[in-house]
Amino acid sequence: MDSSCTLCLIWLSCMWVAWFMLVSAEFQRFEHPVKADGSLSFLVIGDWGRKGAYNQSHVAIQMGKVGEELGIDFVISTGDNFYEEGLASPYDPAFGHSFTNVYTASSLQRQWYSVLGNHDYRGDVLAQLNPILRRIDSRWLCLRSFQVNTEIAEFFFINTTPFVDQYFRNPKHHKFDWRGVLPRKRYLSRILKDLRGALRNHIGHHGPTKELITHLLPILEANRVDMYINGHDHCLEHFSSITSPLQFFTSGGGSKAWKGDFDYLDGGDEIQFYYDGQGFMSVGLTPTNARIAFHDVLGRVLHSLDLSKQTYNPYNAM
Ligand SMILES: *[C@@H]1O[C@H](CO)[C@@H](O)[C@H](O)[C@H]1NC(C)=O
Repeated sequence: MDSSCTLCLIWLSCMWVAWFMLVSAEFQRFEHPVKADGSLSFLVIGDWGRKGAYNQSHVAIQMGKVGEELGIDFVISTGDNFYEEGLASPYDPAFGHSFTNVYTASSLQRQWYSVLGNHDYRGDVLAQLNPILRRIDSRWLCLRSFQVNTEIAEFFFINTTPFVDQYFRNPKHHKFDWRGVLPRKRYLSRILKDLRGALRNHIGHHGPTKELITHLLPILEANRVDMYINGHDHCLEHFSSITSPLQFFTSGGGSKAWKGDFDYLDGGDEIQFYYDGQGFMSVGLTPTNARIAFHDVLGRVLHSLDLSKQTYNPYNAM
């Protein structure tokens, strides 16, 4: 795995049965309305901010088109928002060059929900969290960990970068801005505790690294999370868990793609799709169905699937 990539985890799950009360300082909670017909659609993009280079602007154009077709409600960014080293301050012109001036299509003028990737921790980590950015571009919302509730699904965004041991033990020549994360042990256990209390739906930044498999996976499976979505790996990917209905998706093709530089993860899970060029993911949700598609830089659908919520309904499972 390339240590310069950012990991992002996203969990999506339709809210069938349970409400949970979340009392937590870490996971600030937002509400997002569904469409008049009760559905919801959105795009997921990761690993993108390169001032339009490496096809970032071409991906953005296709996002605009697909966003228009689906009438998307919001966009999710799985992190590594600004290369190579995040933002230097809330006034860093890279914010305009890599975000505002790139994602210009009218369908993309929606709320963006973003988390931080490892590259974002290499700049002024507080810059992307600063409300000043929302005044510059009102679409922007980036927090470390948070929750978005809708009538049909709950989204849990998790700050997965601090889970990766390597960034602490062997950061090489990189300097990470760990303000707000130290002491690390306390920070991580608070995230896990809050998560346990909260989960129906989950979005984060890192794919299933060994740390996350140890700490997060059991919590996600026990809580019947439907989907886990991450960035960090510069590719598009879908695999299924062999131990639960959980589906894993990677959307990390926002700009510079791997294009043969890496072999994808092996492991016990079932790979359904892998593409190491640029692109993004679209999701359409109704109370009972999810339609997920991966699109490339030319707008072609490379892989799509439908998930049915009945399968996961705990009442059926019992
Ligand atoms: C941009 O996308 C085109 C079409 O897939 C591809 O041929 C080209 O290599 C890409 N450019 C870069 C810099 O990745």
